[in-house]
Amino acid sequence: MTINEVRAKYLEFFESKDHVIIPSASLIPENDPSVLFTTAGMHPLVPFLMGETHPAGKKLTDAQKCIRTGDIDEVGDNSHLTFFEMMGNWSLGDYWKEESIKLSYEFITSNKWLGLDKDKIAVSVFKGDSDCPFDQESYDTWIKLGINEERIAKLGKDDNWWPAGGHSVGPQGPDSEIFYWTGQGKAPSNFNPEDSNWFEIWNNVFLEFEKPEDGKYIPLKQKNVDTGLGLERVAAIMQGKSSVYELEGFKDMIEILKTKALDYNETSARIISDHIRAACLIMSEPANIIPSNLDQGYVVRKLVRRAIRHAKKIGITTETDVTTPLVNIVIDQYGDIYPELKEDKQRIINELNFEEDTFEKTLEKGLKEFDKLSDNDISGKDAFNLYSTYGFPLEITQELAKEKSIKVDEKSFNTEFIKHQELSKTATKGKFKGGMVGHSENSIKYHTATHLLHQALKEVLGDHVEQRGSNINDERLRFDFSHSEKMTDEEKKQVESLVNNKISEGLEVSFEELTVDEAKKQGAIGLFSNKYGNKVKVYSVGDYSKEICGGPHVESIADLGNFKIVKESASSKGIRRIKAILE
Ligand code: ALA
Repeated sequence: MTINEVRAKYLEFFESKDHVIIPSASLIPENDPSVLFTTAGMHPLVPFLMGETHPAGKKLTDAQKCIRTGDIDEVGDNSHLTFFEMMGNWSLGDYWKEESIKLSYEFITSNKWLGLDKDKIAVSVFKGDSDCPFDQESYDTWIKLGINEERIAKLGKDDNWWPAGGHSVGPQGPDSEIFYWTGQGKAPSNFNPEDSNWFEIWNNVFLEFEKPEDGKYIPLKQKNVDTGLGLERVAAIMQGKSSVYELEGFKDMIEILKTKALDYNETSARIISDHIRAACLIMSEPANIIPSNLDQGYVVRKLVRRAIRHAKKIGITTETDVTTPLVNIVIDQYGDIYPELKEDKQRIINELNFEEDTFEKTLEKGLKEFDKLSDNDISGKDAFNLYSTYGFPLEITQELAKEKSIKVDEKSFNTEFIKHQELSKTATKGKFKGGMVGHSENSIKYHTATHLLHQALKEVLGDHVEQRGSNINDERLRFDFSHSEKMTDEEKKQVESLVNNKISEGLEVSFEELTVDEAKKQGAIGLFSNKYGNKVKVYSVGDYSKEICGGPHVESIADLGNFKIVKESASSKGIRRIKAILE
């Protein structure tokens, strides 16, 4: 079964169980400043997990594009990928633990579906602590399904809670994970979660609590099920492979690298393929991300530069174009499922070639410089010099240091870095690990203000203005839109006045659920393509703005305050970026 076949089967199974298939949301989260990327299937659905009604109903299923950079050191082992697809089924206040687990088990074991060997399954459940009791219902359900008690591990919040650890804010709860034995021969009768032959494939999360920033767990208005099945991991099992890097696509990329490398090594080849694949998927998003020193663009830069460094390590000469043949494979494989890849093919190739050429110019010299320094641990100042003069992201210096068993002073690198700050604070390492925020009152205000801004920009600059990205936190909004010229001071003033006039009118905010056709007919703006199922939610601010959006929003705009544009700049070619505040 290919990756594409597994994806189709999964969606077909849940559709046959009355779930509505919804498309993958963008890899770049809208309206969530806590993460640079969508890191889990639940991420775009947070408003609905918090109780907003979803236009497609209470039972949903999808395959969501995800990026995780927190595990970057593990990329190249058998299971970790930077870009992966997470398949999910969702109950928004509908079915609960027992039904969810039974659905998972049927899909995995029934011969009509995956038909995996029941004797190779093990599971884990939440063991309970002072905040939340042992997950008896999940445990009993597994026993009922015939899983032997020796194959059920009872673990704490670090393993069986989502998000892991229970320290994050937002919707959360205990989870139950499913593992499959990929080792030789019969599976051991005891489940040892530390044994990597037990491959984690599926997580059933039971989101029943919310945790505000300052407080204790409080029960959510509705109990939700959020599951995540790793598409590539399951495809590897279905193909009898012990590693995701043996799957179609990766196999072809690695084959090419093998023929070009003078000093081949498998881990480097896996890292190169993973990183270029992830870079392509990120760059194909409508936000038009390119390698840069900011936010998502900086992640792409790090991925590509690390890939180029590994290409050099395995003896691929700098005259060879590493990226283009790999990009072609990624686009052939995913272009039908994610057509934005095909549409952006030339831009992706050009930008990656440019980044490759630029970095190759300094790589050699930077490596020599590193060699000179590497008799001792590397100071923050030297690591910063490698970054600013030779373009080495900290991760490359750290990796080189690890190969020589020396250390890099990361803390003082960060101090240097902040001193010379051209990078936003979100681009520093901590932010890459992901997390989840609830919707604070302020960010909801900014969300509504974004709708007003969007409409005002259309009126002042013209109908060609379309949203290309949006990012909101408690202190400001940021909005990317299609427009090729710098805005004049006059235009900025006009936009501000329009928004402020509407605020002073104190318009009411309301929403209705419409089919995409109805929404279009009514002139709603917003991203039509990537939205949920048949029906969409359309938010109106009085009769001023009508936009497709999941919410949440304020009820009236009277209290938004004074809207002010603090910065207008180029984001990438043909895309402008506005930062604005409410005073
Ligand atoms: N949200 C859960 C996860 O990502 C399903 O593992």
